[in-house]
Amino acid sequence: MNTKRRNFIKTSAAVVAGAAVITPNILFGKDDRKVRMAFIGLGGRGRSHLKRCLERDDVDVKAICDIDPKAIEITRKMLKDAGYKNLPEYTDGELAFMKMLEQGDIDGVIIATPWVWHTKMACAAMRAGIYAGVEVSAANTLEECWDLVNTHEETGVPCMILENVNYRRDVMAVLNMVRQGIFGELIHLECGYQHNLRGVKFDPGAEFGEGANGEARWRTQHSINRNGDVYPTHGLGPVSSMININSGNRLMSLTSTASKARGLHDYIVKTGGEDHPNAKIKFKLGDVITTVIKTANDETITVQLDTNLPRPYSLGFRVQGTEGLWMDVNESIYLDGKSPNHQWEPAAAYLEKYDHPLWKKYGAKAEGAGHGGMDFFVDHAFVESIKRKVNTPLDAYDAAAWSSIAPLSEMSIAHGSEPIEIPDFTRGMWMKRTPKFALNDEY
Ligand SMILES: NC(=O)c1ccc[n+]([C@@H]2O[C@H](COP(=O)([O-])OP(=O)(O)OC[C@H]3O[C@@H](n4cnc5c(N)ncnc54)[C@H](O)[C@@H]3O)[C@@H](O)[C@H]2O)c1
Repeated sequence: MNTKRRNFIKTSAAVVAGAAVITPNILFGKDDRKVRMAFIGLGGRGRSHLKRCLERDDVDVKAICDIDPKAIEITRKMLKDAGYKNLPEYTDGELAFMKMLEQGDIDGVIIATPWVWHTKMACAAMRAGIYAGVEVSAANTLEECWDLVNTHEETGVPCMILENVNYRRDVMAVLNMVRQGIFGELIHLECGYQHNLRGVKFDPGAEFGEGANGEARWRTQHSINRNGDVYPTHGLGPVSSMININSGNRLMSLTSTASKARGLHDYIVKTGGEDHPNAKIKFKLGDVITTVIKTANDETITVQLDTNLPRPYSLGFRVQGTEGLWMDVNESIYLDGKSPNHQWEPAAAYLEKYDHPLWKKYGAKAEGAGHGGMDFFVDHAFVESIKRKVNTPLDAYDAAAWSSIAPLSEMSIAHGSEPIEIPDFTRGMWMKRTPKFALNDEY
């Protein structure tokens, strides 16, 4: 049997058993050694991961990589302030990260680059025997989703999708309630990414592309070329953990529908005037994309992408079972036989009572970390998994299944909201895999 095949079987067996995946390529010294971390992409998001790693005493930063001299300059200052001197910097072109991965003393890499780079970089890291921590979404095409899974299986090296919303405090408390059966058997879930990103897609003013700022340099182009839920994981990650997707359940099929596209054009006209050259652009991305997913255990999930219209931020969670439901938009819970008849109750007392053990233990430490503290936990889980040499709690199969909603919703929309099958990225292992996300108060 060839080595690749042997590694595959070893990994599969370990994952099926829910056991630790010992990665043969990753050689550690003493167990108490710090985790040696590197970073690809040091824009806003990459630097926030770096900041949290610099705050930890169990992480040693080994290298940084970015192609933007400004990003490198700001990062260099952060590192200097934290006591680092002359850290290797990889800046020479879009493939400079490949050189960095050969450096030889890196255990884990955090990837926070534009979407089109995520899979390439994550796979290159796994091939170099380095834990890959990849920002969301992890992949843009079905082929990339399979690349993540196949590379993970061939190398035995973990790949964590850095989905921070899985660690949001209310989401974790609700997960705890779900696991204790408080909502009964789950029937229907709703989620999404509902966030007015117009000021992100155009910055400054009505500008995007080269010469613009931050994500306006690359994210906006996806709204011109693609019509689908191009950013599904902030909603889908959390609800997937509640219904054990890839561990006893799986995403089976979807239909997706797009509204008309007006919001981005309106914003250009409002900020740049009707004669602004960008006012001529035809945006493909519908303003509100609605995807309905069916699971193997017959739950339904509605996922919405709504980033082009003026609106307050909301991920629009609803978790509904035979005994009641939680919704985040009105911060309320209803439980049959407990809540006043047909009346919502404020969720706060329940969320406090069922606060997840991880938050109870680390809540104080997480204070001040990004996005209400949840960002602490996603980096914590990545670092702790590396220290323990185990698979990450969100893994390559999660990365593939959740990210696949982007290309599959594009396909459905392109074919008149046709139902589309969602591939089984576990190749049947979902039937035997057991949940591994947030099972204890460690990570
Ligand atoms: N989980 C979250 O809450 C969250 C929040 C913000 C952003 N994100 C995700 O993080 C990623 C980065 O977002 P951002 O806001 O920091 O974007 P950004 O545009 O500010 O930063 C991206 C950085 O990657 C660098 N880069 C581009 N190509 C590169 C290459 N080939 N090699 C090395 N560096 C390269 C750019 O120069 C830039 O500095 C995106 O995928 C985004 O979706 C996630």
